[in-house]
Amino acid sequence: MTGKAQVVVFASQKGGSGKTTVSAHMAVQADMSGAGPVALIDTDPQGSMAKWWNARASATPAFARISVPDLGRDIKLLEEAGYRLIIIDTPPAVTSTIAEVITHADLVVLPTRPSPHDLRAVGPTVDIVQMQDKPLVFVINSATARARITGETAVALSQHGTVAPVTLHHRVDFAASMIDGRTVGEVSETSRSASEVANLWAYLDDRLMRMRASDPRDMLERPPRSTFEADILSPATAGMSGQEVDEDEDALENQPGYALAGTTAPPPEPAPSANTNWDGIDRRKADSGPPPGKPDRRRAAHQPFGRRFTA
Ligand SMILES: Nc1ncnc2c1ncn2[C@@H]1O[C@H](COP(=O)(O)OP(=O)(O)O)[C@@H](O)[C@H]1O
Ligand SMILES: [Mg+2]
Repeated sequence: MTGKAQVVVFASQKGGSGKTTVSAHMAVQADMSGAGPVALIDTDPQGSMAKWWNARASATPAFARISVPDLGRDIKLLEEAGYRLIIIDTPPAVTSTIAEVITHADLVVLPTRPSPHDLRAVGPTVDIVQMQDKPLVFVINSATARARITGETAVALSQHGTVAPVTLHHRVDFAASMIDGRTVGEVSETSRSASEVANLWAYLDDRLMRMRASDPRDMLERPPRSTFEADILSPATAGMSGQEVDEDEDALENQPGYALAGTTAPPPEPAPSANTNWDGIDRRKADSGPPPGKPDRRRAAHQPFGRRFTA
C-alpha cells in the first residue's frame, strides 16, 4: 500500500547548528522505532549527510540521491516506493534552496545552539518558514548542562514558535559517532545522548502523528506520552531525567563570548562581621533605621502585628 509520506526538513541558515547531526539521528531513531521506512535526502552541496551515510554499515535509513529542482517529483516516487517518512538536510546560508525545500515540508525543524550568535541567525529562517505557513519546531542543540543561557534561549525562541521540550546536550559522542556513520545510540544504547535522541524523536513523532490523524479518535489508540513531564519542566535538564548532570561541564555563560547582559550571578553575600553586640537576630539592611531627620515608623518588638497600633 502506498500513501502520503511525511516530509521533515531540517533547516537553519547557521552552519554548525546541528542540522546534519540531528537529522541523521532522527532518521535512524525513526527507523528503529517503526516509523519507517525512512528516506534521507541531502540537499547540501557539501554532502556531509551523504558522507555519513556512505560510512554507515547499516542499510537503513535509505539515502535518496536527488536534486532540489526535482524534489517534488522524487518525493512522489519515494512515496510510491513505500517510504513513510522523508528527512531532508539542508545547506546553510542559501536562502533560495532552503525556501524551495521548505515548500515540500510537513514540518520544519530548526536546530540552534544556545548562544547569542546563533540566536541572531535564526530570524531569516523563521521568516521563510512563516511565509510558507509551515509548522516549525526549534530544537536546542549542543547545550551545556545547568547553563542558564539554555533556558533563556528557550524563552527567546518561544516568541517565534514551538520549542521542543527535549534539549540535546553538548557531548563528544555526537561528533564522534557521526564520523564513522553511526549514531550515539548505535555507539552506546544506554548513553545520556541516546536517551535524549530517543526522547526528541518521541516528541517529533507525536507531532507528526497529530498532523496525520484525520480523526482525533485515532490519537486515543496511542499510549500516553511518557517523557512529557520529565522533559518539559526544565530545558536545561530535559532528556536527562533520573540521571545526574555532568559535573565536568562548565556552564556556557562562564565561557568567553557567551556572557549575556544581566545573566551574571549575583555577588555572594558578605560574611557577617564579628559584631560583639549581635543579639542573635539577622536583620535586613532596612532595619538600620530611617534616613536622618525622618520619623522612625518601625514597630517595636512588643507591638502586635496585624493590628493598627494606636499611641
Ligand atoms: N550535541 C552536540 N554535541 C557535540 N557536538 C555536536 C553536537 N551537535 C553537533 N555537533 C558537532 O558540531 C559540528 C556541526 O554540526 P552539524 O550537524 O554538521 O551542523 P550543520 O549541519 O548545521 O552545519 C559537527 O562537527 C558536529 O559533530
Ligand atoms: Mg550540515
